[in-house]
Amino acid sequence: MAFLKTTLFFFLFFIVVLTEQCPKPQGSSFQINVHSTGNQDHPSVSAFNDYEFVCTWTSEKSSSSDDISGQELRWPHGGYVATIGEEFLVNNHTNDVQNKARLATHFDHDMFVIIFHSEDPSYEGIYGQVYTYTEDSTPIKRGKEFQADSGMNVDPKKDTLTLLDSKTFVAVWQAKPSDSSNANIYSQIFNITTTTPTKIGEEMLINDENDQATHGDPSIANLVNDMFIVAYELQDGEENQKIFGQAIDGSTLSDPQKIGAQFEISSKDNENKNLKPEVIHIGSEYQFLVSWISQNENEDQMVMAQLYEFDGASQPTKLSEAFQVSTDAVTSVKKISVAELDSDQIFFVYQSITDGWSDIQGSIFSIRSDGESVRFGQEFYVNTDTSQQKEHPMVSYLGSSRIIAVWNTINEETDSQSTSDIEAQSYIIQNNNKPQIKNSLSEQTCSSSTELNYQFASDTFEDPDGDQLRYTAFLDDDSSLPDWITFDRNERLFTGTPPNESTQLKITVMATDVCGESVTNSFNINLEVSPSYRVAFSSLLFLALYLLFLF
Ligand SMILES: *[C@@H]1O[C@H](CO)[C@@H](O)[C@H](O)[C@H]1NC(C)=O
Ligand SMILES: *[C@@H]1O[C@H](CO)[C@@H](O)[C@H](O)[C@H]1NC(C)=O
Ligand SMILES: *[C@@H]1O[C@H](CO)[C@@H](O)[C@H](O)[C@H]1NC(C)=O
Repeated sequence: MAFLKTTLFFFLFFIVVLTEQCPKPQGSSFQINVHSTGNQDHPSVSAFNDYEFVCTWTSEKSSSSDDISGQELRWPHGGYVATIGEEFLVNNHTNDVQNKARLATHFDHDMFVIIFHSEDPSYEGIYGQVYTYTEDSTPIKRGKEFQADSGMNVDPKKDTLTLLDSKTFVAVWQAKPSDSSNANIYSQIFNITTTTPTKIGEEMLINDENDQATHGDPSIANLVNDMFIVAYELQDGEENQKIFGQAIDGSTLSDPQKIGAQFEISSKDNENKNLKPEVIHIGSEYQFLVSWISQNENEDQMVMAQLYEFDGASQPTKLSEAFQVSTDAVTSVKKISVAELDSDQIFFVYQSITDGWSDIQGSIFSIRSDGESVRFGQEFYVNTDTSQQKEHPMVSYLGSSRIIAVWNTINEETDSQSTSDIEAQSYIIQNNNKPQIKNSLSEQTCSSSTELNYQFASDTFEDPDGDQLRYTAFLDDDSSLPDWITFDRNERLFTGTPPNESTQLKITVMATDVCGESVTNSFNINLEVSPSYRVAFSSLLFLALYLLFLF
């Protein structure tokens, strides 16, 4: 009996351990915006609960006027996404350009906050609007549009925000003091108990005021007990650009206190450009993760991440070494967005380009990681349609295994005027089914005069979940292909001019799904010795003479 129990235990244990789980797309991507003349871009998305989320974006109304639009949505069922109510206009001041909105949802209080940037010279600043969430209709404005910055500094932009634990939120942005060309990072805490939010305390300078540098692109995350972290770019006159952070104790809302000095997040020996940080809270304690774009000497851009531990009292400390999140297969990363999933998995999405593309366009890629050094599964396309350029991805975790990713797609140019639309793709974390072999690969015969040119059929492998498969090829003994063979994994094509020898090669093709599970299939290449041209020529000559002789 004991033996049976042990066996059963191990059996169950193996079932649990062997079932990989990973995000699977639910149906196709869908368009969010209804108004579709002009550019619809820079989406922001935030979840209310397991089923509902809000998306806002910049909507071009004319060549000189942009507005902020929004839409409440419900999780798609069977590939069908339900909009809740109508597309709504966020900004009350509609003159000139209002753009780059960021959004934070507060489910417990049935509200969400949107802040955005107004470029109108007579209305310049960071503005915001609170909305009351409504279950089945268009959300309702709560109070009036308010200005978040003090108006003391010039050129305010690159705003973002986070909700704090109490019924408050903090906005951050970059702006320049009127007597300086160096931009700083500022913050302001707001009370959202009042109908229109009211400022608590003063605008605060986040970065070190004595560091003679320019600062930009802030990102903010609330940890716990109103402790928050702001990460930003810092450029100190030299060419290299770094990522810095500052921890702040906001628990005394009217007088937030910096904890320690600003600290460098990008590694000190990295002389390259480090850009666009994104900070998120991890777990239930004070841990946080900063990811950013790092550019190397070849001007390739990759996604980096660094995990931090923080005790709430002294400067945060690095938990491990910074690590490269994106693979070497993608370059030119433009924008990152990060979300924490269940069970200590971090979901990264980024706009970049990949090798093997004939025309260079951006796509949205994604990979999961533990945030420290381990990647889970494969890097894959978030957008299933790769025919048009995608930009500005943003991801939000809804809870209960549901993820929503949004971006904007640039449409083909019409009358030299390109337009773009807001698209979304929903993902659900599910058990994985391994890819399978459906058809065999065919044996190839070639020689130095008949080149290798073999494209295996697209239905050679099949994925029961409909996952994108990534192909790799190597020799039978796991060593890499000989130099003369080129394998284009996007086209599934083997090409090359073999050496003039008689031998047989066994090639293994591996198909890997988004979860990282794979299956292999093999085929032989028979190499034959080809006769020399001289031999071929002399036999032809002989034949010609013979024919001549006959007649
Ligand atoms: C919109 O702007 C008008 C004119 O400036 C102002 O009177 C009104 O209170 C504003 N409404 C909101 C909701 O902000
Ligand atoms: C927020 O406003 C409400 C209503 O005026 C007030 O009772 C409350 O004390 C304020 N909260 C903070 C943290 O200032
Ligand atoms: C290939 O090798 C064979 C024998 O080793 C030789 O006879 C032949 O001329 C070579 N062919 C070419 C095209 O070099």
